[in-house]
Amino acid sequence: MKSKLVRLAKDTNFFLKKFIKKQKKTELVIAMKYGLFPGGKKIRSKILLDIGAIFKIRYKTLIAVGAAVECIHAYSLIHDDLPCMDNDKLRRGKPSTHIKFGESTAVLAGNSLLTMAFEILTSSNLKINEKTKVDLVQKLSESSGHLGIAGGQYLDLSYEKKKIPRSKIIDMEIKKTGKLFSFCCAVPAIIKKKNKKDIKFFESIGSSIGLLFQIADDLIDFKGSSKIAGKITGKDKKKGKATLISLLGYQNAIKYGDKIKFKIIKDLKKRKLNPNNLNETLEYILTRNK
Ligand code: IPE
Ligand code: IPE
Ligand code: MG
Ligand code: MG
Ligand code: MG
Repeated sequence: MKSKLVRLAKDTNFFLKKFIKKQKKTELVIAMKYGLFPGGKKIRSKILLDIGAIFKIRYKTLIAVGAAVECIHAYSLIHDDLPCMDNDKLRRGKPSTHIKFGESTAVLAGNSLLTMAFEILTSSNLKINEKTKVDLVQKLSESSGHLGIAGGQYLDLSYEKKKIPRSKIIDMEIKKTGKLFSFCCAVPAIIKKKNKKDIKFFESIGSSIGLLFQIADDLIDFKGSSKIAGKITGKDKKKGKATLISLLGYQNAIKYGDKIKFKIIKDLKKRKLNPNNLNETLEYILTRNK
């Protein structure tokens, strides 16, 4: 698994570096690159590859779409770390973008990474027909805005230091993290022009994977090491973040994660989809320590 992720990171970063190199140089791009490279685990791209394999989508296409997703993810992390949000000074083992470049630059670098995702998706080098590109742009925008990441981040912050019921915590985690995974899972079905019902199925698989991913992230914050995670752990509790751990406790949150994983695999098998690659990725998501 580790070596697969390393190769994926290499190919994705190669794509992104080439894409940025083709553009005119600016000062802001330095902060953008800082937030983007060498980057994190590329787990969203891995999910895209796993589902893409089921539909036999070309590797090159998946890398390009995954690169767009990684731009949005990097933007969301830059903003997530700002003093007005989680106020975190360490990200991916180095000072957060706003610590290195200042807040205004971090905000603008984040914005520019968000829009760069759409530059990648609409580029003529991406060999997908125009109608499909419009569908992808629409889904990715939805996943990033008030119905997705931004909306989830809003809820995450407004729930701090409050007692929040389980359904609302789950809704918040699915928005802030799950929706981008939904997009990754839906991409292959969108490219293959599957019907709405099929696309919805993959989106729901994606939001479950995203929820699973966020639970694991919360577990790492609870018990993990800052050094290994590359970000300061133990902060959710201090900030009074509403997480499933704060509500159910550590052990029950682990059990809940296992239950979600089991259901994802069951749903895929019911549709006679071979979840082998995905199984391995889900196992990694649950047992990772960074
Ligand atoms: C961290 O995401 C933020 C969450 C949405 C939980 P990752 O754990 O995927 O971050 P990187 O990309 O590996 O740094
Ligand atoms: C962030 O969740 C989710 C995003 C959409 C960025 P967290 O705030 O828990 O992510 P970390 O722990 O700082 O990486
Ligand atoms: Mg946060
Ligand atoms: Mg955070
Ligand atoms: Mg976290």
